[in-house]
Amino acid sequence: MKEYLYKVSAAGRVNIIGEHVDYCGGKVLPCALSLNNAVYVRPNDSDRINIKWTTLKEEASIPLDRLSDFASQKYVKYIVGCAYLWQQAGHRLSGCDMKLDCTVPFGSGLSSSAAIEVSVLAALATLAREPIDKKEIALLAQQAEQRFAGVMCGIMDQFVSAHGKKGHALLLDCKTLNYDYIPIALADCALVVIDSCKPHDLVESKYNERRSETEEALRLLQSKLRVSCLADVSSEQLKRCANLLPPVIFKRARHVVTECERVRLAVTALKNGYPAAVGSALNASHRSLSEDYEVAGKELDALARIAQAHPACFGSRMTGAGFGGCTVSLVKKAGAAAFGEYVLQEYKRQTGYDAKVYETEISDGIVIQKL
Ligand code: GLA
Repeated sequence: MKEYLYKVSAAGRVNIIGEHVDYCGGKVLPCALSLNNAVYVRPNDSDRINIKWTTLKEEASIPLDRLSDFASQKYVKYIVGCAYLWQQAGHRLSGCDMKLDCTVPFGSGLSSSAAIEVSVLAALATLAREPIDKKEIALLAQQAEQRFAGVMCGIMDQFVSAHGKKGHALLLDCKTLNYDYIPIALADCALVVIDSCKPHDLVESKYNERRSETEEALRLLQSKLRVSCLADVSSEQLKRCANLLPPVIFKRARHVVTECERVRLAVTALKNGYPAAVGSALNASHRSLSEDYEVAGKELDALARIAQAHPACFGSRMTGAGFGGCTVSLVKKAGAAAFGEYVLQEYKRQTGYDAKVYETEISDGIVIQKL
């Protein structure tokens, strides 16, 4: 891609723990992946953004003054949404050619959309010769996802896609957006990401439904508790207020409250180098997502259960929004290859689906390269 001026990339992500708590003000522990989206970009002295992909046939040529006319087009909407919001936020937008090369598999639950949004915004900032403000980029990317893709997502994916750091997990407080990098220093362990390859359906509507259920839980709890978000409620407080919540809403709230506790446990265990304790937090997280939050489904349940039963595995859970997508497992490095083979074979036998192990590493978020 020599004829382009910059290569600007942003990462896909895997979340170690802290699932479905970002929009409740909780802490999350994702990592940026080497699976990413690269935008090759150059100015074109016109009033259009021209878009091509390395892996899709779709091409588009979009006039800068008609961005919102393209807001509902399948792949283009992410780019148009970002360009529109970038301009609305008072930044300079000018004509350019972009070629997108996305190695995050679409629909895998590893946040291809966040990688696309964040890299496009970083590319626009680079062309405008502005310093890269990763926080602003993450917030604009989240807005693009909410307003143009219709998913009322939290901030986790876009934030880690921008701020991720090689070899580190990002401990992000989604209430304040303060963060820390935690080295993944578990000697002899590997994080293995496996795609259940179960086709997604209705992810957006079920995701938005869960989000409103947590908002309902907070509203009801606030009649007794002085809290500003669900993540600030303790298990004891929730138990005491159980009678305020209808049974399903109570289960949703219990997931959020206990998941926030598991994040604290997992972070301490990670810092102290106790893989077994990280692993049991992962297993408990999966169970809560499956039984209380009801976002796993039978394929992810099977994939996690099979992984958890393997002797090389410390723990395994679904990662991301759920309703299909991937699991993340903490595994002894020496046994990782045999673990992968066993899980794929057993999963195929139990569900009929071929799963896929992704070869990926924990990498940086936004990377800008002048070509
Ligand atoms: C999706 C959303 C995130 C987060 C996760 C679940 O990936 O984009 O904001 O809510 O689901 O943890």
